[in-house]
Amino acid sequence: MDAKRLIAKRAAGIEASGIRKIFDLAATLKDPVNLSIGQPDFDVPEPVKDAACEAIRSGFNRYTPSAGIPELKDAILSRFAERHGVHPEACVVTAGVSGALTLALLALVEPGDEVLMPDPFFVSYKHLTTMCGGTPVFYDTYPDFRLDVARVEAKLTPKTKAILAMSPGNPTGMCIDVKAAKALGELARKRGVAVISDEIYELFVYGAKAQSLLSHYPEGTLSLGGLSKTASMTGWRVGWALGPSAWIEQLAKLQQFTFVCAPSFAQKAALAAFGADLSAAVPEYKVKRDTMVAGLRKAGYEVAEPDGAFYLFVKVPAKYKSGQVFVEEAARRELLMVPGNVFSARDTHFRISYAAPDEKLARGLEILRALSS
Ligand SMILES: Cc1ncc(COP(=O)(O)O)c(C=O)c1O
Repeated sequence: MDAKRLIAKRAAGIEASGIRKIFDLAATLKDPVNLSIGQPDFDVPEPVKDAACEAIRSGFNRYTPSAGIPELKDAILSRFAERHGVHPEACVVTAGVSGALTLALLALVEPGDEVLMPDPFFVSYKHLTTMCGGTPVFYDTYPDFRLDVARVEAKLTPKTKAILAMSPGNPTGMCIDVKAAKALGELARKRGVAVISDEIYELFVYGAKAQSLLSHYPEGTLSLGGLSKTASMTGWRVGWALGPSAWIEQLAKLQQFTFVCAPSFAQKAALAAFGADLSAAVPEYKVKRDTMVAGLRKAGYEVAEPDGAFYLFVKVPAKYKSGQVFVEEAARRELLMVPGNVFSARDTHFRISYAAPDEKLARGLEILRALSS
């Protein structure tokens, strides 16, 4: 039996990412400067851990309702209303934002539909779209990574079903400002397409509060959020989707037959997370961003200053052939980063995560200085 022959195209067609080569190299290093990681460098807040332990000990270990425990759904909805002044119709609690993205695309995308997404994009957008039979279509955001609604409009066709957007974004850290958010909402409304808005980094912003696209187009937007980044709960798998009841019901139904529900104890812990100060690290991260942007520019790198998240998407110095080549050379010098082609059709940039101790960032900058000189 040739096991490989039986593998479906939707799985076989996904190429293993360029990161693998870097990780293979990394495994041979003793104490690398790892600036490749997409999660905060602080741990889950203590009261949140206590709530998770308490839930497990008190026997809250069974399936929950598919759409999530009612008190958590209510808390997510009222929190959104407080932050954005709009009360979404409905909420489903999911297994992280990855779960919400999967369900949203399964619910909305038919084979042959086009899904617009930014370039650079978050890695799973492309693959989840093709897994659902959709075609990813990219709207360019280079060189400043700002959303230009005219570029989105230029890519709309009668086949467009949904527009994916993120604010702040990964890998660029850029936010969508009020003007662009409004214009995108108006465009999507006029053309009758859905907006799927990934707001996972909502609290990591260093200027004006992040907009939610849902507040500009509530009848056609799914707002996705979660606690992986803001409460550092990456392994606990809690996220949500907010939006029109007709869509949320479909997401919940699909969840029933796939993930079943988000982890029970983690849903209780999520309630505690909303009571904790999740913005405590933000001022510290702003200092890290400023230091890294200044240090990189001084070393001759071209970098657009991001509004949020904890990434910098930096142009590779001209003497290197590609992001991949540059990142491999950096890895040989014990600095780990991610090449831009993981997130983009281009291979001209690299992503640094500055969610790392200051001493590691300083060592990283030193290596980057040597690489550009
Ligand atoms: C933009 C973006 N969306 C979604 C996710 C997935 O997050 P989760 O852990 O909630 O599935 C990530 C994780 O890196 C991300 O950067």
